[in-house]
Amino acid sequence: MGGDGIGPEVTRHACRALRAAASAGLVELELTDFPHGADHYLATGETMSQSTFETLRDDFDAILFGAVGDPRVPDGRHARDLLLGLRVRLDLFLNRRPLRLRAPGLSPLKSADAAPIDFEIFRENTEGLYVGVGRVEKEGTPEEVAVSESVASRFAVERIVRLAFEYAGPLGLRVTLADKANAVPHMFGLWRRVFSEVASEYPGVESEMRYVDALAMEMIRVPARFGVIVTSNLLGDILSDLGAEVVGGPGLAPSANVNPGLHGLYEPVHGSAPDIVGTGRANPMAAVLSAALLLRDHGAAEAADALEGAVDAALAQGVRTPDVGGGASTSEVGDWLVRRVASGAA
Ligand code: NAD
Ligand code: IPM
Ligand code: MN
Repeated sequence: MGGDGIGPEVTRHACRALRAAASAGLVELELTDFPHGADHYLATGETMSQSTFETLRDDFDAILFGAVGDPRVPDGRHARDLLLGLRVRLDLFLNRRPLRLRAPGLSPLKSADAAPIDFEIFRENTEGLYVGVGRVEKEGTPEEVAVSESVASRFAVERIVRLAFEYAGPLGLRVTLADKANAVPHMFGLWRRVFSEVASEYPGVESEMRYVDALAMEMIRVPARFGVIVTSNLLGDILSDLGAEVVGGPGLAPSANVNPGLHGLYEPVHGSAPDIVGTGRANPMAAVLSAALLLRDHGAAEAADALEGAVDAALAQGVRTPDVGGGASTSEVGDWLVRRVASGAA
């Protein structure tokens, strides 16, 4: 599901890379294209029919997604409906956003190459300020008031915090909670209580609680100190773009929206980038790395290694779009990655 803007431009190459991995015998797969996005919404008046949703839910192992957002739908309603809709309706409660500095010199930080930067954001994906609950009173008047409610349930917080500890433990990573309990005590008080309770069940895993503002500073000053950062929906959204920039920008940041073992939607962290659509400047690497996450979650580790290896080789050899300091176009990078995957080189 390529979606809008540069979404189809980058997923096209991710799909080609997947097919190349299949031709090389690394994975068996079948791909089906879905036309959903702004064009479909503007033409039909609906973002996705119930039957298409059920098909996606019941007949497919995973969704590879591009991005949504189109200037012709200024309030972004179709994007919320589609992307947030799939996240909630498929209960994709974990939004994993791995952030790794894949080559020296990619980060704008002076200190970045001194220690390996390699951490993950575990973003709660079903609640928080994203629940869409609220109201606007006296709209358009000087007395206008808007209220947006933020929701945290013990169930949803506990399942993602637990997953963060389960994941971090065997890898020896530190788990950091990012919150704002000093200013928003109801919601983040619950996050802190649950985090402390779960942490006490994993005495072997190092853990800490950080206010998100100070953590944002640390992410710039000492990004290498982080292992897994677990956080709420909105804070995770913001921190993941900050983190993406630390490791080279939106063109390199993949993500996985998952309900482990049940459903998954894999997409770059970036959006539809209307400012560069059609210019050949979009970096397809985040989409290819998202396809690699999809492969790894579905037991195709060798194929995932092939896609990630191709991205690393392209970065090392300077086959890069302008966002990462190169002069190659989307297609030139895509073609190179596909040839590399097809050649079977690790
Ligand atoms: P954006 O991520 O689309 O773009 C931010 C900046 O990063 C732009 O300058 C863009 O050119 C650059 N950029 C993004 N991806 C790139 C890539 N692959 N290669 C090179 N440069 C890249 O964020 P925005 O401009 O705030 O949002 C544009 C639209 O996308 C909005 O409608 C927004 O709601 C939507 N959006 C969708 C998703 C998603 O579908 N997951 C994520 C973020 C934003
Ligand atoms: C993301 C995006 C979305 C989000 C938007 C498009 C609703 O920014 O996937 O990071 O806020 O989750
Ligand atoms: Mn975002």
